[in-house]
Amino acid sequence: MTLLNTDINIAIFASGTGTNACALLEHAKKINQCSKIKLIITDNPNAGIIKKARDFDFPVLTIPMEQEKFASFSEAKRNQENKIYKILLAQKINWIMLAGYMRILSKDFLNKFYNENTLVNQIVNIHPSLLPNFPGKDGYQDAFNANVSESGITIHYVDNGVDTGQIIAQSSFQRHQDDTLETFKARGQKLEHKLYPQVLEKIINGSILKPKG
Ligand code: GRF
Repeated sequence: MTLLNTDINIAIFASGTGTNACALLEHAKKINQCSKIKLIITDNPNAGIIKKARDFDFPVLTIPMEQEKFASFSEAKRNQENKIYKILLAQKINWIMLAGYMRILSKDFLNKFYNENTLVNQIVNIHPSLLPNFPGKDGYQDAFNANVSESGITIHYVDNGVDTGQIIAQSSFQRHQDDTLETFKARGQKLEHKLYPQVLEKIINGSILKPKG
């Protein structure tokens, strides 16, 4: 894939409720740039984002792992990623925004989105903690359980590690004394829905933070 063309074609990957995917769609609409987001891909046939995307009249494709059809997990994963990649290629996708996508993308897949000029994979993720603290799938829960007085959210490039890619933006919030996990998480998600659209806008207008190096 050539990543040098100046067109920006974005795909959003989501596995769950999809509030971030919706925040991105809403923002793209607000700034009149809906055409830059081509489609949403989910691996989960029961993901809330499927209905939400349809309510937006926005294309969403479900591409599950189909583990039962393959002898091993890695074969199933390769097959799923190949299917996804074919679709992305057909739509000339050159940026991916992960919005609660619960699968780790393989090195082969990431490499397809590597930009040799900027030295990053053009794949970004939103993570619910102030990285490098609390990487992994339960950022809010882990930060809450650790009794931190302040937590936050991070948007970062995706590399081969788990939540280790270069940080693009962060935003923090205070823990309140009477917080439950739910109120703590709700405060963080409010920030997610503000910060991720800002990064979307930067991808679209080409002002996204260039990696160090
Ligand atoms: C968010 O908390 C995001 O930070 C994490 O997964 C969650 C997805 O939530 N990566 P939603 O599906 O966008 O509501």
